[in-house]
Amino acid sequence: MKALVLAGGKGTRLRPLTHTSAKQLVPVANKPVLYYGLEAIRDAGITEVGIITGDTGAEVREAVGDGSRFGLEVTYIPQEAPLGLAHCVLIAQEFLGDEPFVMYLGDNFLVGGISDLVGAFRRGGYDAQVLLTRVSEPQFYGVAELGPAGEIIGLQEKPAFPRSDMAVVGVYSFSPAIHEAVRAITPSARGELEITDAIQWLIDNGRAVHSHLVTGYWKDTGRLQDLLECNRMILETVEPDNRGTVDGLSEITGRVVIEPGAVVENSVLRGPIVVGADAKIQSSYVGPFTTIGPRCVVQDTEVEYSIVLDDSSIHGVSRLAHSLIGRNVEVSRAEGTPNTYGLMVGDHSRIQVRA
Ligand code: TTP
Repeated sequence: MKALVLAGGKGTRLRPLTHTSAKQLVPVANKPVLYYGLEAIRDAGITEVGIITGDTGAEVREAVGDGSRFGLEVTYIPQEAPLGLAHCVLIAQEFLGDEPFVMYLGDNFLVGGISDLVGAFRRGGYDAQVLLTRVSEPQFYGVAELGPAGEIIGLQEKPAFPRSDMAVVGVYSFSPAIHEAVRAITPSARGELEITDAIQWLIDNGRAVHSHLVTGYWKDTGRLQDLLECNRMILETVEPDNRGTVDGLSEITGRVVIEPGAVVENSVLRGPIVVGADAKIQSSYVGPFTTIGPRCVVQDTEVEYSIVLDDSSIHGVSRLAHSLIGRNVEVSRAEGTPNTYGLMVGDHSRIQVRA
């Protein structure tokens, strides 16, 4: 069995971050979300992995390399444009050959790994296995309509009027029958070859499509609120570990990881938190569910429930929450009068200020 990991795409919902970086490499608890998926694939006993890449291919290659670090053999499959999930299967056909495979969306996070799911697929002899989970806003997902015996009778992609609250999770298993399906379908109204259409084709052609309800935690980290939630979830599980320097004026409570070279002075840290290597926290409050990236500087600031990426600095800001700060960003207090905000913000950014 092989794996196909999708790490291209447009990432419009995480702009402006995705103008410059791969969303699959945004760290949650200071580890790229893609790594969790690759580890789950390895733990399921799969070693041959094809990774679909787009505009951010160079960054993905640099981060994952030949895969040996994960115990994997990685083949990169560049996609000329984000033409859809089923298009990814189409262009990976040579790599996949006649083997069954797991297709894993590189920005998805699934607690509990995929070993059981892969085992069930292998034993079942299905042509497709789709994971489903209940969600509160099905209009943002691929949605499955189930028959009386729980069988899938139809799939809709991000429907305006969802027929159920069962969303399709971004980890699929397929037999080689999927290749015929992806060749048979045509692009959707949004111009993409949809994997939901390919699976619908399998259903319509009498192939065995099995669904499996996931009860554990799953997140598609393609939206800010889901990314922050995923960060929260992982941080809840970290073990406290201080490998940095904390002065006597600071107070640390809860699950707090301080990586080597990080310095905490005159600050209150209330976990769960990860402070990245060589970061500096001075005269600040860092509250629960916050990840501070390597080499960041946080001074005279209060921040919680946020992700701050590498090499950014925050000075004199109170209080920052529900925020994702990119790399090499400076956030600081404006001094003097008039009492204004001074912004230099990239395209497609989102800023919320108190009136
Ligand atoms: P999506 O998150 O559904 O699509 P997207 O990345 O274009 O994001 P947005 O909706 O915010 O514009 O994609 C799921 C995963 O599949 C993600 O890791 C990107 C990847 N992908 C590809 O590799 N190629 C593609 O053609 C598409 C559509 C997605």
